[in-house]
Amino acid sequence: MKDAAPQPIYLADYTPPAYLIDGVELEFHLHPTATRVVSKIRFTPNPKAVSRDFFLHGEGLTLIRAAIDGTDITPDLVEGGLKADVPDAPFLWEAEVEISPETNTALEGLYMSNGMYCTQCEAEGFRRITYYPDRPDVMAPFKVRIEGREPVMLSNGNPIASGEGWAEWDDPWPKPAYLFALVAGDLVARDDSFTTMSGKDVGLKLWVRPGDEGKTAFGMQALKDSMKWDEEVYGREYDLDIFQIVAVSDFNMGAMENKGLNIFNTSAVLASPETSTDANFERIEAIIAHEYFHNWTGNRITCRDWFQLSLKEGLTVFRDQQFSGDMRSKAVCRINDVSALRGRQFREDNGPLAHQVQPDSFVEINNFYTATIYEKGAELIRMLRVLVGDDAYDKALDLYFTRHDGEAATIEDWVKVFEDSTRRDLTQFRRWYKQAGTPRVAVSEDWADGTYTMTFKQSTPPTPGQDEKLPQHIPLAVGLLGPNGDEVLPTQILEMTEAEQSFTFEGLAAKPVPSILRHFSAPVILERDSTAQERAFLLAHDTDPFNKWEAGRTLAKDVLVALITGEDAPLEDYLSAITVMLRDDSLDPAFRALTLGLPSQDDLAQTLFDAGLTPDPMKIYRAQQTLKQAMAEHLQDLLPRLMADMDVTEPFQPNAEQAGKRALGLGLLNLLNRLDGGAAAQALYDRADNMTLRLGALGDLLQAQKGDAALADFRAQFETDELVMDKWFAMQVTHSAPEDTAQIVAKLTEDSAFNWKNPNRFRAVFGAFIMNPAGFHNASGEGYKLFADWLIKLDPVNPQIAARMSSGFETWRRYDADRQGMMKTQIERVLATEGLSRDSQEMLGRILN
Ligand code: PHE
Ligand code: ZN
Repeated sequence: MKDAAPQPIYLADYTPPAYLIDGVELEFHLHPTATRVVSKIRFTPNPKAVSRDFFLHGEGLTLIRAAIDGTDITPDLVEGGLKADVPDAPFLWEAEVEISPETNTALEGLYMSNGMYCTQCEAEGFRRITYYPDRPDVMAPFKVRIEGREPVMLSNGNPIASGEGWAEWDDPWPKPAYLFALVAGDLVARDDSFTTMSGKDVGLKLWVRPGDEGKTAFGMQALKDSMKWDEEVYGREYDLDIFQIVAVSDFNMGAMENKGLNIFNTSAVLASPETSTDANFERIEAIIAHEYFHNWTGNRITCRDWFQLSLKEGLTVFRDQQFSGDMRSKAVCRINDVSALRGRQFREDNGPLAHQVQPDSFVEINNFYTATIYEKGAELIRMLRVLVGDDAYDKALDLYFTRHDGEAATIEDWVKVFEDSTRRDLTQFRRWYKQAGTPRVAVSEDWADGTYTMTFKQSTPPTPGQDEKLPQHIPLAVGLLGPNGDEVLPTQILEMTEAEQSFTFEGLAAKPVPSILRHFSAPVILERDSTAQERAFLLAHDTDPFNKWEAGRTLAKDVLVALITGEDAPLEDYLSAITVMLRDDSLDPAFRALTLGLPSQDDLAQTLFDAGLTPDPMKIYRAQQTLKQAMAEHLQDLLPRLMADMDVTEPFQPNAEQAGKRALGLGLLNLLNRLDGGAAAQALYDRADNMTLRLGALGDLLQAQKGDAALADFRAQFETDELVMDKWFAMQVTHSAPEDTAQIVAKLTEDSAFNWKNPNRFRAVFGAFIMNPAGFHNASGEGYKLFADWLIKLDPVNPQIAARMSSGFETWRRYDADRQGMMKTQIERVLATEGLSRDSQEMLGRILN
């Protein structure tokens, strides 16, 4: 029998907590299968409460003892927690529970990774550690004592005292339970320090397993850069004596911002030139910044409830994007951020999993750590900043920090701060938080007697549960170019608020070429019929780097779509425009590398689907191959010189400048690879002294079906390095021929190194699989079945990861009847699995409907 459908919870049902907490003391007696947790919690009735019922969350706990004001009681154990009769006045709650970290494979609560104890409490993991009001609007200072045999035992806040077999920690800043952390094990630290803007010394520690010390330098530097940046740009100073980061091998997400004790997936912090790519370094820098920035946006000001998740995540992503832009190239970062947004968030927003940035309901909160909450949330803040201006944004943020410090706030509080500090009416802007779906903005233009008129029409397609959409407040950054390529109108922000709206520009000498949605000023899909010549013109002349890149991308897309549908493709226009772009030494190599890249298969599938066509994954794949072959042949004579220009002769540095050169060099090698049968790739593989070049060469060799020797060599060299072995797994799936992908995946799952309970390893194989559309959607349907088999296998062990991965099926309705039928069968098979987690039930249920 299947369990009854899990029940959603609603934002509208929010009520304030019945009891607040003055202080928490926790005592841990560590044991792999029988850890004892003793809690002492001082509760006070909340004057704002609407009920006096005393309920504590608890899951998978064995209650040993409970007492109120020193008297033992027998609480009422109920579904999801316990109830008890309590005094109508402040009281002391004491409890002792037993838990088993070693058998906790869900990696939520207290668990073990490689013999080390660690915790993950966001969103609702603390209830697996002890009975507690596990909701973010209950904030309290924590004191923690840890007893055990572990050489290093850590918790949040400042270290108080320690001795043989024990350690005590004190976190004075009131925090919700989701920010609690504990780590204990055999760890070594890279030590450093930071002097804050008011002159306080903060000790910095980056804890890793012995043997990983050599991979900590970059992360530590990124941390110091982040601390400095947050002081300089947001005026935010760190607030404890010590800040610690711990690297953990088994972790569901990238990292976690626990107060003063961030816990990181090893993949999000450990880096060295020999084992990490430029992309890894960049991601690590961004995640370290992200978690550090949460200290103010997330921890000091937290969320009232999980419907407000984007309050901390959207803002913190926006802040880490600003940071990366300042540390590296703004233009390149923006292009990468928009590509990621389109790849993940637009896909989500245009399918069955579309949801609001502030949802009205959810079943399992773990399913809402999405691109919409994070990346779209960040775009909303970026738009706000564009609308109010940079200085007003800074003032609003100052007000936000003073007004809400120490509180559990809401998205409404956030918008109100902007209204109060700028006196703008943001009523319509609020719709961005409540209306799911990606708006389409269609542009038409009119030219007569020196007057140029642009007319915009916006509409947002229906999303699950939301059929009717209202017009959004859209900032459209627009510039105009004259026929000779000069800018005749620098960037202006046009504020669109109506369903249809025109803007007029007078006194122009000639019909201009518009550059619309510069720097991607709003998360919308721009619909504009344009000629290949005009796109090539913008690629050559636009002063806005984002739109310059965008022009090349849309031109490539036009070519690919035409190749797929069998229409006339503007191939020659594209090839000559790309050639001019590549030869332009004044352009940043990183920018050129991005412009050389093609739209993804998934992007093309969505584009075709939007146009009312049924995407054929193989046709899409072949069109890409055809275009790359044509590019390679067209650029043949240029390739060697351009590649030589990109050689980096200085010692490896993971900075933007070197990374850009390597990226362009590898982009060009990928083309040459189609002409020389892998010779240059093999030579590069053999001489590469860093992972970026080595992995790029390996990918090309695999693509040329010449990868066997390199693969064996790679494995032999890196067998003991988990993170590099993840790459070894992923590469084989990513660079397989579509007909072979499912078989390769199946074979990899039988490899002795396929430790599938480790989220990184599972994702290396299956994440790469679902991101390879031609392989995953192979007409045999073999891939669907294999994927479903593994979701069923993983779900009872780690429901969070199983549920996340099930988004591999989210685009099933795009495809032809055969594929739809096969995918539906597999989705239903997983859904019919006895005991399927609430996480997976919710995800697959939504995908199916
Ligand atoms: N809050 C974390 C972040 O955004 C993400 C996370 C969520 C980590 C849930 C673990 C569990 O940085
Ligand atoms: Zn975050």
